[in-house]
Amino acid sequence: MKELIKHAQEMRTFSHAPYSSYTVGAAVLTEDGSIIGGCNVESSSYSLTCCAERVALFRAISEGHSSFKGLAVATENGGSLCGACRQVVWDLCGDIPIFIADKNGKIDKTTSAELLPEAFDKSKLK
Ligand code: THU
Repeated sequence: MKELIKHAQEMRTFSHAPYSSYTVGAAVLTEDGSIIGGCNVESSSYSLTCCAERVALFRAISEGHSSFKGLAVATENGGSLCGACRQVVWDLCGDIPIFIADKNGKIDKTTSAELLPEAFDKSKLK
């Protein structure tokens, strides 16, 4: 998990955040042990911004990965995942450990189930 967190911290340096200046890095650990990262990418049409967590997950999915074992997120102040990312993480990963690091390396450990209690998901659509 140390490597996963380090990767998320490195991804933060690639953040494109000219509007908020809030840089975020993320990294997902796949079932086969690969680590795939992402950073937040902002748009001048603010709502088109994509969070680091979703960039990492969408990148992993598009590279053929479909099963995930962990997620790390790195921000300046240990900010947690937004609501949209909580839903996407739940949908794509189920209940996995999530590590949130601040710029000093302080780590909060949580899970996707803790972050999204009573989640809506595909089980309600059948
Ligand atoms: N952001 C993320 O990348 N992940 C989150 O879960 C929270 C917010 C980004 C989006 C935007 O670029 C910046 O942080 C400020 O909201």
